Amino acid sequence: MNETARAEHGLGYAVNAPYYDLIFPAPVRATLEGALQTLLPNARAVAEIGPGTGIFTEALARLLGPKAEIFAIEPARIMRAALMTRLARLPEANVTVLPDDALTAELDVELDAVVLFNLIMHFGPDDRARLWRKWAGALRPGGTLIMETQFPQKATAVPEAIVPGGVLGRHRYDTVARADVIDQDRIRWLMTYRTWAGNDLVRTETADFDCYVISDELLAQELSAAGLVPHPAAPADIQAWQRP
Ligand SMILES: C[S@@+](CC[C@H](N)C(=O)[O-])C[C@H]1O[C@@H](n2cnc3c(N)ncnc32)[C@H](O)[C@@H]1O
Repeated sequence: MNETARAEHGLGYAVNAPYYDLIFPAPVRATLEGALQTLLPNARAVAEIGPGTGIFTEALARLLGPKAEIFAIEPARIMRAALMTRLARLPEANVTVLPDDALTAELDVELDAVVLFNLIMHFGPDDRARLWRKWAGALRPGGTLIMETQFPQKATAVPEAIVPGGVLGRHRYDTVARADVIDQDRIRWLMTYRTWAGNDLVRTETADFDCYVISDELLAQELSAAGLVPHPAAPADIQAWQRP
C-alpha cells in the first residue's frame, strides 16, 4: 500500500497531518525556504510534488507573486484539505491544486522548476526512475529540479531524538523520532507526536513510515541517467539539478 492509500486507511499521514505544521522543524524550514529564494527567484511555472499542508507552497506563492503559476500535486486527501484551506486564505497565490499522484499527474506547460521536498523517500528504485524521467522531461532547458539531501544516507538505525514543536493555546507539541532498519534499502521511521499541557503528557499518537534511503551518490547516478546536470548554485543540504 502506498502512502496515499495508507492515509485513506487512517495510517501514516492521516496520523501526522493534524500535527504537521506545528512540529515541522524550524531549521529545516529555513534551509528549504532559503533554497527556493536562492534558486527560483524568477520562476514563472513551478510544479511542487507532494506539497503536503502547503508550507512551501505558501513560501513559493509569496516569493514568486501572482504572475507565476504554481501546480501543487497532492494525492492524500487529508493533506490536501490543509493545503487548500491554507491557499484559500492567500488571495495573491496563483496555485492550481491537483489531487494526483506524482507518477500520473499531467501538466500542459513547460516548467521552470520542479520542487520535491520531503517526498522522494516514498519512492522505490523503479518508481524513482519513472519519476525522474517524467519530471526531468517536464522542465524547460535550464529548468531546475530541487529536493533536500536525504538523511540518513545509508540504511542505518537512527536513535530516538526529541524534535521540539510549537504551542497552540494550552498545549505544546513535540515529536519523538527514531528509525529502525528494514533491509539494505529501507528504514522504518517511528514518529510519536506528543501533546503536553505544562508538564503533563495529555496525548501520544504514533505514525510509522517505511522509507527508502537514497545516498547522494545514488541520486547523482539516477538524475544523470535522466539527463540532468548538477546546478552550480545548489546551497548546502540541497540537491538541485538542471536540464541542460
Ligand atoms: C513529508 S510530506 C512533505 C510535505 C511538503 N513537501 C513539506 O516538505 O512540508 C510528504 C507528502 O508527499 C505526499 N506524497 C506521498 N506519495 C506521493 C506520490 N506518489 N505523489 C505525490 N505526492 C505524494 C504525501 O501525501 C505528503 O503530503
